Amino acid sequence: MVKRLKIVAVVLVLLLSLAGCKGDGEKTVAPAQKPVAASGKEIKHPGEKIKIGFSMDTLLEERWLKDRDLFKKAVEGMGAECEVMAANGDDALQISQAETLISHGIDLLVVVPHNAEATAAIVNKAHQAGIKVIAYDRLVKNADLDLYISFDNEEVGELQAKEITKRVPKGRYVYIGGAITDNNAHLFKKGVFNVLQPLIDKGDIQIVYDQWSKDWTPANALVNMREALKATHNQIDAVISANDATAGGVVQALDEQGLAGKIPVAGQDAELAAVQRIVQGTQTMTVYKPIKSLTIEAASLAVRMAKGEKIDTHKKVNNGKIEVPSVLLSPIAVDRNNIDSTVIAEGYHSREDVYRK
Ligand code: GAL
Repeated sequence: MVKRLKIVAVVLVLLLSLAGCKGDGEKTVAPAQKPVAASGKEIKHPGEKIKIGFSMDTLLEERWLKDRDLFKKAVEGMGAECEVMAANGDDALQISQAETLISHGIDLLVVVPHNAEATAAIVNKAHQAGIKVIAYDRLVKNADLDLYISFDNEEVGELQAKEITKRVPKGRYVYIGGAITDNNAHLFKKGVFNVLQPLIDKGDIQIVYDQWSKDWTPANALVNMREALKATHNQIDAVISANDATAGGVVQALDEQGLAGKIPVAGQDAELAAVQRIVQGTQTMTVYKPIKSLTIEAASLAVRMAKGEKIDTHKKVNNGKIEVPSVLLSPIAVDRNNIDSTVIAEGYHSREDVYRK
C-alpha cells in the first residue's frame, strides 16, 4: 500500500513539471528550477557568475566577428560569462535562440536584431522570465526595451554625404541602401538625405536611383548597381552605399563598365577590403565605428544592469513604443588622408594589411 502511494506521488510530480506549457500553444521558457525573485528572475547562488546572453543577427560582415570576440572578451574581463548565438539572418531562429539562452539561465540579454519589429517578441519573452534586454548597434522597435547602445547612425549618413558632396557638389547620384528590416538602414539614409535634400531642392543634385539591398548582401547591391547603370546608360556622377559590403558590389558593377575609380563611392564599416579600395582609389571613403569602444561600453552596462544597478543615460531614443535610455558613440569619416591616424593608429587594421599590394 505504502509502496503504491509512493509511486503515485512520483508520477504526480512528473506530470506537474510537464504542465509548464501555456494552453494557447505559445511556449514559455521555464527557467531551471532555482529560487525565483519577485521579478521572475532566478536568484543566483553566492559566487555564481553573472551570465550575459548575446543574440546576434549574423556573422556575415567582417565587423560582427569583431563585435562577437571583443564583447565576449570584455564581459569575461568583468568576471562574468558570455554565451553567443548567431541566427544568420533568420528571424524564427533568432527567437528560438533567445529562448535557448533564457533557458540556459542568463541574467541579461544583449541582442543585435535581424528584424527590428520581429525582435520585439524576444524582449517580451525575456521580460516574462524577469530578464532585461539591451539592443546592441541596432534598435528593437515597439518593445519595452531596457537600453539601446550604438553609434549615432544618422551622423554616419551625414558624414558619407558630406564627403561625397565635397567632391561632387552637382550631379547625378545613386543611393544603394541597406536592409529595409534594419532600423539602422533607415537612420543612415535619413542622415544622407539631411545633407543632400537642400542640394536636391536647389536642383544641383539629382537622385537617379535609390534602392534597399536585402540582408545587406554584396550580391543584392551588385544587382541594384547594374540596374542603376543600365537605367541611366552609365550617366552617374556619385554613389553612396550604406556600408562597405554593399559598396563592394557597387565597385564590381562599376568595374564591369570600366568606371571603377572614376566615380566617387562612399561606404561604411572600415572593412579591410574597403580600406584597401580607398588606397587603390576605387572607393572614396568609409565610416569607421570604433567597435572596441562599443563592446567595452556595452559589456560594462550589461554586467552592471545584470547585477541590478539602475543605469541613467543622457540620451533617449523613441522606438515607436517608449523613450529608450540610450548611449550613442561617435563615428569617424575615413578617406585616403586619415587612414593612418584612424584605423591603423587604433589597431583596427595593420599597416601591412592595408597597404598590401
Ligand atoms: C548595420 C550596422 C552596419 C553594417 C550593417 C550590416 O546595422 O550598423 O555596421 O555592418 O548592419 O550588417
